[in-house]
Amino acid sequence: MQPPLWTFRCFPLVSMTFLPALQVLVPSESKTLHLYEARYLALLDESLFRKNKLFVHFVLDPVAVSDSSREISFAARHACLVFIENVERLQVGALVTIRGIGRVKIIELLQVDPYLRGRILSVRDNIVQDECSLSSKVMDVKNVLHNLNSLEIKLKAPKEVLLQTQILNSLNWAVKGIYVDIDQNFVPSLAERVSFAAFQPISGSTKSELQSLQLKKLKAMDMKNTLERLNKSLKLIKENISTVAAKLAIQSIEI
Ligand SMILES: *[C@@H]1O[C@H](CO)[C@@H](O)[C@H](O)[C@H]1NC(C)=O
Ligand SMILES: *[C@@H]1O[C@H](CO)[C@@H](O)[C@H](O)[C@H]1NC(C)=O
Repeated sequence: MQPPLWTFRCFPLVSMTFLPALQVLVPSESKTLHLYEARYLALLDESLFRKNKLFVHFVLDPVAVSDSSREISFAARHACLVFIENVERLQVGALVTIRGIGRVKIIELLQVDPYLRGRILSVRDNIVQDECSLSSKVMDVKNVLHNLNSLEIKLKAPKEVLLQTQILNSLNWAVKGIYVDIDQNFVPSLAERVSFAAFQPISGSTKSELQSLQLKKLKAMDMKNTLERLNKSLKLIKENISTVAAKLAIQSIEI
């Protein structure tokens, strides 16, 4: 059977002056893009027209073909199937909010103009673990993420309790799962979804903190072991809790 056909596109920032890998999107992550180039708007219209509101977001990595030649070719890596959550039309283009669902592999390119189209396969964690240790880790991650979230909210605006941080936004989605009408093979398990939720920026992050997070996201995309990713998440969240707690302490001295 042929794998389903989805539309996919490369991220707009693929010129060589950028570090495209640093734009990776992980499952559960939500991001708002401003699309204004005609080909991206065409892609948007096609995704909306197909009603499934899905497309693929991937990172274009330059690879040197060989040491002797100067030629560079590109590899599509770290692809993520995304769902269009919201579209706001602007005078120039549109603001499009997308949500990462699950990792995919691009297996065939069928069209490059005006946007890329191809076939994809679902990529899931494949190292089997016992349900019991997974679900207790998932509980741990949820608990520490909620702790981090309350600290983060204090740091942002002590009086606005209802503010939602990006981490909580990802976690809530990961826990609730999917509303889209989609082949369930493309939807990761609850444990896998939750294992990605922590890989989100924290308010007030410095540039170097953000860069270090992006590298961790790339590694998380490459992992095939849910328990290992949950372990990494726990470590990351605990470190971030200390960072935010330290920033809060400074803030209270300044007040
Ligand atoms: C959160 O922790 C991770 C892992 O140590 C680090 O890469 C990231 O920069 C931290 N972010 C903040 C805001 O402390
Ligand atoms: C995850 O951490 C637990 C300890 O909390 C450890 O026993 C286990 O081996 C780790 N698993 C992986 C795959 O890292």
